[in-house]
Amino acid sequence: MPIDLVIDGGKLVSPDAIVDGAIAIDGGQIVAVGTLAGLPSARQTIDAKGLHVLPGAIDVHVHFRQPGYDHKETWSSGTAAAAVGGVTTVFDMPNTNPPTATVEAVKEKLAIAGAQAIIDFGVYGLIGEHTLDKLEGMLAAGAISHKLYMGSENPLVPCPSDGAILEAFETLARLGVRCTVHAENTPVLQWRGHQLMRSGRTDAGAHIEQHTDVATVEAVSRTAIFAEWTGAKVHIAHESSRHSLPHIRFAKSRGVDLTVETCPHYLFLSTDDGARVGDNFLRVKPPVREPGHCEPLWTALLDGTIDIISTDHAPHLPEEKRRGVIWDCAPGFPGVETSMRLMLNEVARGRWQITDYVRAACAAPAKAFGLWPRKGSLEIGADADIVLVDTQRRSQITAAKLHSRGNASPFDGYETVGLPIRTLVRGKTVAVDGSPVCEGGWGKPVTRSSS
Ligand code: DOR
Ligand code: ZN
Repeated sequence: MPIDLVIDGGKLVSPDAIVDGAIAIDGGQIVAVGTLAGLPSARQTIDAKGLHVLPGAIDVHVHFRQPGYDHKETWSSGTAAAAVGGVTTVFDMPNTNPPTATVEAVKEKLAIAGAQAIIDFGVYGLIGEHTLDKLEGMLAAGAISHKLYMGSENPLVPCPSDGAILEAFETLARLGVRCTVHAENTPVLQWRGHQLMRSGRTDAGAHIEQHTDVATVEAVSRTAIFAEWTGAKVHIAHESSRHSLPHIRFAKSRGVDLTVETCPHYLFLSTDDGARVGDNFLRVKPPVREPGHCEPLWTALLDGTIDIISTDHAPHLPEEKRRGVIWDCAPGFPGVETSMRLMLNEVARGRWQITDYVRAACAAPAKAFGLWPRKGSLEIGADADIVLVDTQRRSQITAAKLHSRGNASPFDGYETVGLPIRTLVRGKTVAVDGSPVCEGGWGKPVTRSSS
């Protein structure tokens, strides 16, 4: 009996090597890897000559906005954007409305996602003072992990007290599940925000002053200390500051089970980009900072201090991003559709290798959250989540053509070399040449096999 599919003629990329080879896929999984002659015959063959074959990217930090903010994104538009961008699994944040803070809310979000998604997904449950007794239940209901907003100005997802955080870490250490932390110091953000507003500041610089680096340095350190004390595994979201890096290195040197992500906007942008896109438009939490952070963050990504590339895909409508008073300007940008090509462009420029990209975008997130080796790898037995990449393809990012509802991107107009051109999820092609080609409902929730 022929198998479903063979992808032949491409260069297979893992974190360690690039090898010429073919991949055999049956029943949604990789069943053999080798030369075409050695593989079983297949009903369909995809010719990948001249292309690189990567595991699909796993983005552990997206905001797909449903339920509650459908005008910014839906699971349909968000997963379409992700599929086009070469992302095959996303983890969605709990700051929806209602927040994902109960067993029922987890189930509701999984149902919405399941009906619309064209790629696989996980949802985070919220760590809050009123959810401490629900953490295990939310996992049992299908949440992939939990999110802690240590830095929060949103009353729907308030920062718990340190006492509650410590208790949450004790619980999660027992459960063996890594949680993701927005590491900023809430009292610092609140105090400074209040003072800046009272003094009449409405400019973009006030946002940077509010989110002073030490707010994140302190919260990263506190997270590491609590994790070390309790044995909890933690993941630091969206690292933005070079000043955090020595503290992360110190924690890792002590053996704290800490993983760290950064995002393209911290690797490529500084406040200088305000002149191009608008100072207020650049607003994101934590902020894109003054020049001097991108290079140290790249160094940290290359030396393993930073483990993971995510996007913090946080779409808002262009008009929500272009308000004149900084406090009214919606924070964040879409990212899932543009991240891979931006990071591949740095491969073309020689800053890093495509193997490094696969480590940071595919293997490391899968390992951190217990999906490895079923996700993030091209090994036999893995889900056939695969991206065909043309590393030579030159193209331009056009924000208005992105598939997100909130398609206000600071990377509008960027020229990149390297493009995902075909994305498969469990063996099914979900996007080709910039367009989604799959009906909603193909995406499935992911589960931990280890953590
Ligand atoms: O800039 C941000 N936007 N930071 C966050 O923490 C939340 C996000 C959003 O949901 O818009
Ligand atoms: Zn976020």
